[in-house]
Amino acid sequence: MFRTKIAGIGMYVPPRVVTNNDLLKYMDTSDEWIQERTGIKERRYAHRTEETTATMGVEAAKIAIERAGITPQDIDFIIFATLSPDYYFPGCGVLLQRAMKMKEIGALDVRNQCSGFVYALSVADQFIKTGMYKNILVVGAEKHSFGLDFSTRGRNVSVIFGDGAGAVVLQPTDPSTGSGSGILSTHLHSDGESAEILAMYNPGTHANHWMPEKYADFDEAEIGQMFFSHAMIDKAQVFPNMDGPAVFKKAIVKFPEVIMEALAANGLQTTDLRLLIPHQANLRIAQFVQQKLKLSDEQVYNNIQQYGNTTAASVPIALCEAWEQGKVKDGDLVCLAAFGSGFTWASALLRW
Ligand code: UT7
Repeated sequence: MFRTKIAGIGMYVPPRVVTNNDLLKYMDTSDEWIQERTGIKERRYAHRTEETTATMGVEAAKIAIERAGITPQDIDFIIFATLSPDYYFPGCGVLLQRAMKMKEIGALDVRNQCSGFVYALSVADQFIKTGMYKNILVVGAEKHSFGLDFSTRGRNVSVIFGDGAGAVVLQPTDPSTGSGSGILSTHLHSDGESAEILAMYNPGTHANHWMPEKYADFDEAEIGQMFFSHAMIDKAQVFPNMDGPAVFKKAIVKFPEVIMEALAANGLQTTDLRLLIPHQANLRIAQFVQQKLKLSDEQVYNNIQQYGNTTAASVPIALCEAWEQGKVKDGDLVCLAAFGSGFTWASALLRW
């Protein structure tokens, strides 16, 4: 069987830098609070009209494809992970296929939020290992800045998120080289018990099957019939909602668990790890995981300080930056790990 290698990697972040202090004009917050609780100093926001999740994905993909030494026409499958798609449907995969003038290949959208990229990588890995595809483009991209509650009501969520995109081209390794490089294993998990703890409730087809109190002052005509209403907007249900402390508590358990699962599956130890790339949810979460696994500062890569939480884009952006800075070299053991809404969590262990 083939192994899957990352043949090219790219990232794109919009040029517009938004500092913590810039957010003060919208909400009651402070640079001190944001830095102390999350580590974030600034984030990037996409151009309001000219950039979308798909266009940013295209920019990252162009770089990944060029670095892989191929052309967009060589790509034989697309997997696009995002929670902030250009349209409710169709997904961003086809928009990227159109923009890059690719062949009439398959395009799959993955909706696993913060774990989206690692899930997408795992799906791609199966297709490559079985020999079905030879050049898969995996993209993680988000335009959060268009869908956040910028009033004080939404400050616990809106200060965290930023925009950007990352992409990789995956190819089969040449088994004859015997270098042992490529994806060693991937590990996917979910627990839907707390699905509403970190969620955007509307628009959706759930009506009032859960949390009916949220709909208490809707009249009968609205309940169950209204896909979208002014009341939903007034109640901030069209924005992401999060019980931050509950997510934090679960994340600091599941991150170490899924990293250790990946290492154990390959008979490896934390000391074998050259670099851990955790999803950039909160610097405090990454620091907790680092401490728990007794990893050195050099073994963990964080860039949430500059970009905030870019959800499905955070892992490929961080991996790309780490690689560009020479922190990942041939033969290095790298672990990608993510946790987020769903809850879903996942890891991938790879030999660079
Ligand atoms: O990537 C997706 C997965 N998401 C995560 O992993 C996020 C995990 N959770 C977190 O990162 C943290 O829970 C947050 C950063 C979201 C919040 O930090 P926290 O230390 O858990 O704060 P909290 O929600 O418990 O709120 C503490 C206080 C509250 O005020 P009171 O009730 O104590 O008076 C909040 O209203 O901080 C207040 N607060 C803020 N104050 C200033 C919440 N957001 C802000 C803000 N600026 N932006």
